[in-house]
Amino acid sequence: MVAHPDEPLETAGYDLILQQLIPGYTSLARLAVALLAAGPSAAQQGAAVLVAGCGTGAELLEAVAQRPDWRLTAIDPSAAMLQVAQERLSHAPTIEWRPCTVESLQENGRFAGALSVLVLQSLPDDGSKLAFLTALAQSLQPGGQLVLVDLMRSSLSGLEEQLEAAWLGFQRASGLLASDEQLAPLTQALHPIGLARLTALVNAAGFSDPARIFQALDVEGFLLQRRR
Ligand SMILES: C[S@@+](CC[C@H](N)C(=O)[O-])C[C@H]1O[C@@H](n2cnc3c(N)ncnc32)[C@H](O)[C@@H]1O
Repeated sequence: MVAHPDEPLETAGYDLILQQLIPGYTSLARLAVALLAAGPSAAQQGAAVLVAGCGTGAELLEAVAQRPDWRLTAIDPSAAMLQVAQERLSHAPTIEWRPCTVESLQENGRFAGALSVLVLQSLPDDGSKLAFLTALAQSLQPGGQLVLVDLMRSSLSGLEEQLEAAWLGFQRASGLLASDEQLAPLTQALHPIGLARLTALVNAAGFSDPARIFQALDVEGFLLQRRR
């Protein structure tokens, strides 16, 4: 059972479904936090770190566990997601919660590091992705790092059918029981882009080229640095 039929899937059963839907999801937050913590800026004791699009709090739980000294700011425009995250993180009273988008944050150069996991993919490439990335870059100190994890457009041409079948096989083997109707809000209206387009966007936003540090099927993770 993944969710009571009356509960919005937005929060009910969300974490379990993501684990069953996204290959590598259970490792993503742990890896993203470990990577940022090992970098030059966020390695500092008490570093200010932004969790952009925190959802139900997966990255925050990892950040608090691995780096209890970090000064965390968690933002998400969804009040329902933020409420679940706040309940799960009630043992971490110092987190600053902001019910807003990254684009409306306006925190110039405040953060040593940032995490954005599975957020950019939901924004259309009509200026919205660039606005999101630009706001993230501006929120970071020069040299600050961003770990960005997103669904990408496949770069493995000729293997599309096999990858699609592998993804369905992964879901079946993971015991995914959600109906297509329940999954629609999570899988539709996504706007994945390829590496060349991501590189152009992050460069225009003020970041260096993305360094790929993770790939599981089409879910890829990158380390970016705000240019000095
Ligand atoms: C698929 S969820 C991922 C949540 C979490 N990072 C995780 O991996 O479990 C995407 C989240 O991004 C949030 N979001 C969407 N657009 C955003 C924006 N412009 N700025 C910040 N968060 C955004 C959504 O409300 C949602 O909670």
